[in-house]
Amino acid sequence: MKRVLLVFGTRPEAIKMCPLVNELKTRSGLETVVCVTGQHRQMLDQVLDTFGVAPDYDLSIMKERQTLFDITEAILTRIRSVLDKVRPDVVLVHGDTSTTFVTALACFYMQIPVGHVEAGLRTYNIDSPYPEEFNRQAVGIIARYHFAPTALAAENLRREGKDPASIYVTGNTVIDAMQHTVKADYRHPELDWVGDGKLIFITAHRRENLGEPMHQMFRAIRRVLAEHPDCRAVYPIHMNPAVRQAADEELGGCDQIHIIEPIEVFDCHNFEARCHLCLTDSGGIQEECPSYGRPVLVMRNTTERPEGVEAGTLRLVGTDEETIYRNFTELLEDRAAYEAMSRACNPYGDGHACKRIADILELGVYDPWSPDRKQ
Ligand code: UD1
Ligand code: UDP
Repeated sequence: MKRVLLVFGTRPEAIKMCPLVNELKTRSGLETVVCVTGQHRQMLDQVLDTFGVAPDYDLSIMKERQTLFDITEAILTRIRSVLDKVRPDVVLVHGDTSTTFVTALACFYMQIPVGHVEAGLRTYNIDSPYPEEFNRQAVGIIARYHFAPTALAAENLRREGKDPASIYVTGNTVIDAMQHTVKADYRHPELDWVGDGKLIFITAHRRENLGEPMHQMFRAIRRVLAEHPDCRAVYPIHMNPAVRQAADEELGGCDQIHIIEPIEVFDCHNFEARCHLCLTDSGGIQEECPSYGRPVLVMRNTTERPEGVEAGTLRLVGTDEETIYRNFTELLEDRAAYEAMSRACNPYGDGHACKRIADILELGVYDPWSPDRKQ
């Protein structure tokens, strides 16, 4: 029997790995072990509870205002004994966080094969997103299996010279998680507060946006809301104290915005599905909102998810106050511009990514989904 160890540590990794944990646990040919690094604490535990995943190991590394050194040092030191004890045949990591990179590095040092879930996303700008672009490229060098969510991500990997036989187009596991979340009869007090108004859904947390860019983002949002009294913004805020401080300084006292604690992923999807539009610098939300046909203004200078931009649902607006103000205003006032972006599209998968990854690991077979695999 093959022993598979999944290692993850932040909210988005957990949202995309828990459905995979639950699928792998149904396979008789696999022994599934879960280690969380605890790079996030409350935001990670919220997702583990939602999916009913109980980790076998918890490195509990999080500390307030942790630096990249803190995270790297703590994981590298603590994961070694877990790898020694579990002796996995393969370790699965996800995406581009420090947990992902450091775990893959430890596996490399111990010569343990790595499977990279959500492989091949690229901006090719090492500073943006920071440090994620470095993390995913570095894991791409180490990984034995590349589970790419889209044909484009697979193409990036092939262009970089990865062995084509190691690249699988599986779809994104977040689409699996989304299959059962949005309900027609969903209710939430925040949605009652919005009533017949336009729900503006906001999230923000990127490291490279901390400081002045984040202040500019928030100032633009406040100005637009003040000019559009029919809008109500709901902003489930990240737990990073630096984000909270900036939000408090720029958005505090604005009665058109409710800044609330992080919400469960099921709530988050239902908010996304009902919003008029979304402003975010998140990666995952760029994958989710297009499915619901909700326009997204991406407050970043680059995106590794060009599929949604090509489909017309995502617009990259950077972090400059005037640019965000102009784009946000346009979508509220120009009906044609809004409708052009409100097309539902889902380039990120069909909801069977976990099954495909499990098939590859358990049986070494793959039910071809993309013509891409046939090359
Ligand atoms: C991390 C990832 C980023 C990912 C994001 C998802 C890295 C370098 N960054 O960034 O790629 O997009 O998670 O949200 O891997 N905090 C808490 N409780 C929590 C979570 C965070 O208090 O449950 C606070 C702590 O003070 C912590 C700070 O937030 O020090 C920052 O957390 P950290 O994981 O370092 O960075 P993120 O911005 O969350
Ligand atoms: N999300 C959530 N609760 C919230 C905000 C976001 O469950 O209060 C979910 C969201 O649906 C998406 C993921 O968290 O699946 C995105 O996480 P985040 O923005 O923290 O990280 P990123 O995707 O940018 O790495």
